[in-house]
Amino acid sequence: MRVKYTTLFLSLLFIVVNCAEAGKPTNETKAINSLLSKMTLEEKVGQMTNLTLEAVSNKNDDFVTLDMAKLRNAIVTHNVGSVQNAITHAYTLQEWHYITNTIQDVALKETRLKIPNLYEIDAVHGANNTIGSTLFPHNLALAATRNPELARIAAEITAKEVRASGIRLDFSPVLDVGRQPLWPRFPETFGEDVHLVKTMGVASIKGYEGKSLRDVNSVASSMKHFIGYSAPADGKDRTPAYIPEINLREYYLPPFKAAIAAGARTLMVNSGDVNGTPLHASKYYLTDVLRNELGFKGVITSDWEDIKKLHERHKVAASNKEAALLAVNAGIDLVIVPLDFSFYDDLIALVKEKRISEKRIDESVRRILQLKYDLGYFETPYLEPEAVKNFARPEYKEAALNAARESVVLLKNFNKLLPLTKNKKYLVVGPSANSLTSLHGCWSYTWQGTESKYFANDTLTILQAIKAKAGETNVTYVQGTDFNTTNINIDDAVKAAKNVDVVIVALGEDAYAETVGNIKDLELPEIQQQLVKELAAAGKPIVMVLSEGRPRIIRKIEPNAQSIVLANWAGSQAAPAIADVLFGDYNPDGILPYTYPRFSGELVTYDHKLLNEAVEINAPVYKYEFAFSPQFPFGHGLSYTTFEYSNLTLSTKKLVGDGHLRVEVTLKNTGEVSGKHTVELYSSDLYASIVPSVKRLRKYQKIALAPGESQTLVFELNKSDLAFVNEQLTTVTEDGDFEISIGTLKETFNYLNK
Ligand code: BGC
Repeated sequence: MRVKYTTLFLSLLFIVVNCAEAGKPTNETKAINSLLSKMTLEEKVGQMTNLTLEAVSNKNDDFVTLDMAKLRNAIVTHNVGSVQNAITHAYTLQEWHYITNTIQDVALKETRLKIPNLYEIDAVHGANNTIGSTLFPHNLALAATRNPELARIAAEITAKEVRASGIRLDFSPVLDVGRQPLWPRFPETFGEDVHLVKTMGVASIKGYEGKSLRDVNSVASSMKHFIGYSAPADGKDRTPAYIPEINLREYYLPPFKAAIAAGARTLMVNSGDVNGTPLHASKYYLTDVLRNELGFKGVITSDWEDIKKLHERHKVAASNKEAALLAVNAGIDLVIVPLDFSFYDDLIALVKEKRISEKRIDESVRRILQLKYDLGYFETPYLEPEAVKNFARPEYKEAALNAARESVVLLKNFNKLLPLTKNKKYLVVGPSANSLTSLHGCWSYTWQGTESKYFANDTLTILQAIKAKAGETNVTYVQGTDFNTTNINIDDAVKAAKNVDVVIVALGEDAYAETVGNIKDLELPEIQQQLVKELAAAGKPIVMVLSEGRPRIIRKIEPNAQSIVLANWAGSQAAPAIADVLFGDYNPDGILPYTYPRFSGELVTYDHKLLNEAVEINAPVYKYEFAFSPQFPFGHGLSYTTFEYSNLTLSTKKLVGDGHLRVEVTLKNTGEVSGKHTVELYSSDLYASIVPSVKRLRKYQKIALAPGESQTLVFELNKSDLAFVNEQLTTVTEDGDFEISIGTLKETFNYLNK
């Protein structure tokens, strides 16, 4: 056993365990206070300083080795309390054990107070920094399942594989609401709707954190990025956002509020600025709103190098030192510096100059120590052998397949071209047809996700999965084009198309992460569109398969495809899931978690205002076009069966005060095959003091029905489900008439505050 407890740890442990056993409140606070009272200013500031692995390693692309001199300089000389990230690519389990245990060794054996080190990682759709882990659909695809249980399971398995790697804090989930589809981190969001992000986000946090952070099955989550990151005005990563406070509170704050209520332990700050204030310098958002209003008690982490950026990029601080002053006074606890010690030096100087109080430093250090306690680091600081048993269990693949299947959206199916039969001839063509990276997207064994050599050997491409269904000899493959500009062999593809029954053209986006994924145009690259147009001339039915991180505009080629299947970076089982849908081995049930736009200049969400769809009826000469006509609406997704809604009933026509409204609706499978279906309940506030959205999603439930089977679903609503943020920035439910809609059924009722 590598653990060598010091007397201090044993006495701290004794206090904690004894109090817990006696069923009394634990004495952890006392233990932490006692530890704090022994710490020098330098030791405290070191706990607030976070380095990336690269800062303590030798540069070597294949195998990471820690540079012991650099490591000691960080941990012993500069008292650094946490390290994060992988350099360039994912590591094996053994490499992670070596990294985390070696760092822990230095922290425990060579520092004065022997405070254990905390290691953090981005595991955003599986333990994507560990070779051999299972990769799940990205959040956007999970949101298409409308099945929060799948998000919980994906997070739970991720937590197990991360903990098995020797790591206990995961920078996930993204709770930014995806209302700007150009944004390259759109695939990391749970889509455009607040309720969807809230419910999926909370499920995910529950999966990560489980019952206790001490448990070998759990990790601390980090909700990110607080706040307004996902709405950059120009759609690019880390560029300014202008979000009126009323919108910020209506659309972007609620998921964080719900996650805090669900017990999320840490939070990461938005790298960008909102209305001219970088979030890393915003005392208003980090302290007044997050701490005082939302009651967040956990650790607030900066994002990558973002304190320096207050000086270097945002230009709100004249030096790094002024930047540190701003950020710490704003409320940040833990700073991903991540490569040097300037923050450490500056913060120490600021306290010595009495520009920041030591009391303020103590607040942050107390939170960080508390987190380390809660994660069990003071009891079991090294790798937990029990946790390792949780790695790569066979059932994880099945879970990833279930999630991938439910995430696939059938967007179009003209004349029921799908499902395909297995005994015909197929041409499989297009840039994503034989690509693993475009099925997995960002954060897939590398940050950018573009290196397929790190993927498990048994991961299938769409082409391989189709061959497995239809038989090798029935499938011809021609690449056609690359993703962006190059015509590889469109002519060959067109020739091949003439000799098959059906053309399956796989298009979309290759992997990208963050700023690298910036684009200037949402339209699908011209070369991919040319491929479809030329294939169409061969006269064979076309199935379009889209694998992409955001809705690339397909208006001009949509008519060329009889059927369209969409997968938003659905992970290691994406290809089998897509093939299951194509050949009818799985009846699709995914529905869009965002509005699929038809035009780049019309990025309007489903919960827009009536004026977004106004038709100028009184001036025929200037008659306006109908302005809201997305390619596919939010919630759209077809099935191989048909469903019918009936009997929408409300328990009352007059809801009063804190009363409950019970909404019932019957769903029937009127088709020939079994299928799952999501019932979405929307409310519309018919008249309100702030222009109401045309509708808002308030509840959803997904059920499975056999052919001919029907079921009555029950939804409970109360006033908070009807609320909005008013001019005074207060969340209110106003008296008046509301409409409930499910499918095409509608019922109205009146609400009265008491
Ligand atoms: C991203 C964060 C991530 C961090 C650490 C940043 O570039 O914005 O989401 O957690 O890096 O890897």
